[in-house]
Amino acid sequence: MSVVALTSAHGAPGVTTIAFALASVWPEVRSGRRVLLVDADPAGSGLVSGPLRSGIPNAAGVSVLAAARLPLSVEQVIGCCVALDPGGARMVLPGVADPRQARPLGATWAALVDVARDLSAGGVDVVVDVGRLGHRWEPTAWLTGADLLAVVVRGDLASVLPAAAAVRALAPQRQGGSAPVGVVVDPGPYGGAEIASALGVGEVLTVVRDVRATRALMEGGSGGWIDRSALMRSARSVVRRVAELVPDVESVVAR
Ligand SMILES: Nc1ncnc2c1ncn2[C@@H]1O[C@H](COP(=O)(O)OP(=O)(O)O)[C@@H](O)[C@H]1O
Ligand SMILES: [Mg+2]
Repeated sequence: MSVVALTSAHGAPGVTTIAFALASVWPEVRSGRRVLLVDADPAGSGLVSGPLRSGIPNAAGVSVLAAARLPLSVEQVIGCCVALDPGGARMVLPGVADPRQARPLGATWAALVDVARDLSAGGVDVVVDVGRLGHRWEPTAWLTGADLLAVVVRGDLASVLPAAAAVRALAPQRQGGSAPVGVVVDPGPYGGAEIASALGVGEVLTVVRDVRATRALMEGGSGGWIDRSALMRSARSVVRRVAELVPDVESVVAR
């Protein structure tokens, strides 16, 4: 495994929630591997106002890396992350609180894609919250450089139609990379195959609608009933499938 980027085309289908839920269960499902959640939404972080709201050290965050000389090292990047557990099995690189801070980040994102390869070789997978497509300061390097790009939708036409247009527009940017997959939050009356066909992707992964667990997770809760919730169970299934879709870097190197 290496880099999984999550994005959307319309509304707020749940990109940040899914990215955080995947990172929360990642080390448990992919035993032996750690995870770094990169908060790359140029419209402003959904994590800084959510699970990270208790405060971010001054030395952490992508804006600190933006002031550093490129290329970046693994140590520099880890040094700018916030650990979500004492062992650092789950880490977050906090993003920008204000969209204006996203403007100078293009070269930093490109440098971080390069560091992600080294991180992965060292046992750390990367999950990226790219936010909604089409932002003026879109972190394009993640869209082109991710091993797996997932377009998040809700199970209704208002969400799927703009996402289908986005999938078509993204295809040329993914030269050499795998085609995007879909992630649907609450498929409603539709089946995964129907949504995949409307989206123009080969596969759609499903996250259930679970208001209570979503709220508790994004307020910084963990363990107990949250771990056993439908939200976290579907997050584990998504991580298992993502791991099947993206071959291990080690096995690619060995081939
Ligand atoms: N699986 C889910 N079940 C229920 N509510 C959800 C789920 N995912 C997201 N939400 C809710 O949808 C809203 C948008 O979620 P968010 O993750 O911020 O979306 P985005 O990052 O795409 O803007 C939030 O109010 C969040 O609580
Ligand atoms: Mg978001």
